[in-house]
Amino acid sequence: MDTERVIATFVEYFQDRGHRRITGSDLLPPPQDPVLFTTSGMHPLTPYLEGRSHPSGGRLVNVQRCLRTTDLDEVGDTTHLTVFEMLGTWSLGDYDGSQSIAWGHDLLVDGFGVDPKLLHATVFGGDQDAGPDTASLRTWEERGVPVELTTRENWWSNGPTGPCGPDSEIFIWTGDTPPRSTPMGDERWVEVWNHVMMRYRRGDDGTLGPLPRPNVDTGLGLERLAAVLQGKRSVFEIDLFEPWMRTVPSLWPLEKPSLRLVVDHVRSAIVVIGDGVPPSNTGRGYVLRRLIRRVLTTLWEADPSRTLGDLPGELFQHTLGHFGQSRLPGEVREVLLDEERRFTRLLERGRRVLSQPRFSHGLDEEDYHYLHDTHGLPRDLVRGLRGGSPG
Ligand code: ALA
Repeated sequence: MDTERVIATFVEYFQDRGHRRITGSDLLPPPQDPVLFTTSGMHPLTPYLEGRSHPSGGRLVNVQRCLRTTDLDEVGDTTHLTVFEMLGTWSLGDYDGSQSIAWGHDLLVDGFGVDPKLLHATVFGGDQDAGPDTASLRTWEERGVPVELTTRENWWSNGPTGPCGPDSEIFIWTGDTPPRSTPMGDERWVEVWNHVMMRYRRGDDGTLGPLPRPNVDTGLGLERLAAVLQGKRSVFEIDLFEPWMRTVPSLWPLEKPSLRLVVDHVRSAIVVIGDGVPPSNTGRGYVLRRLIRRVLTTLWEADPSRTLGDLPGELFQHTLGHFGQSRLPGEVREVLLDEERRFTRLLERGRRVLSQPRFSHGLDEEDYHYLHDTHGLPRDLVRGLRGGSPG
């Protein structure tokens, strides 16, 4: 089942159950949101989760592009992507969490054909702030799905303040052996779908209060589910990444983790630029700058003559087209190349400055401040030039 089919199956299933499809937004959350990027399908819906009525009603479904930097160091493995797509459903004060879990389970097994014996759930077991989620536990038990109870791992919040609540996650076994252990005990359990019983709101003072009405917010990782359904070991092997995996390895022979990092970060950078963010030294632009610099550092480790200018135009068109972005491929490429030139100049300046005798010893705080304030050389870059790895 290709990713387009996965999306269509998901959306139709929920439309058949009274959900209206809403258009996903770009990666930039609304101004009052506490995070830099949209990290989950619920971001654009925050006002509605907090009580406002949605023009499309109380049952919604969509596909939302998301960007997560919390997992940046895990990119390079088989399941983490910086930009990914989340298939989402919402009950805004309509049905409850047990109904959501029941539909989720049915869709995975009957709609997508996942072997029910390969499923495991996790459920919130309670902590000092909130009691255990017994309703979700019961629903899974009635369906014969094993459950692991956790605390922190099964509490979902959108940043330090805002809507939150206990969640229940569905994992699929991806190992070669019959399922073993539990999701927290074996990484071969891959999380695909999170159902959040969004009943609370955390205020500015950190206290937890009830939302005006309880909601359910769910998010299914498109690329992870597609990998399972396509029998692939990694998200980079699914159809969506075909043009990347066909062209990049012959352009730049790289070890697998580096290849995945390069593909993930370049693709993510294209999407971020496509959403109108330029590289900069703060906020969103800095995240973009770090993505591009990590790519270049990885590429230049083996061959400093490599350049992003060699990337085939097809990759820009494919990515911008897939995300429905209107920026021209040539413009996006130019932003990447500008940033590459800037980084090259910075590295040259860094090497020149660091070759001065006063820096032949170990560097102290004062040196780092001087290098930053006088020469514009950030600490991570200086460390990289002196043999560490830049961040
Ligand atoms: N908001 C929930 C998540 O991102 C569904 O996991």
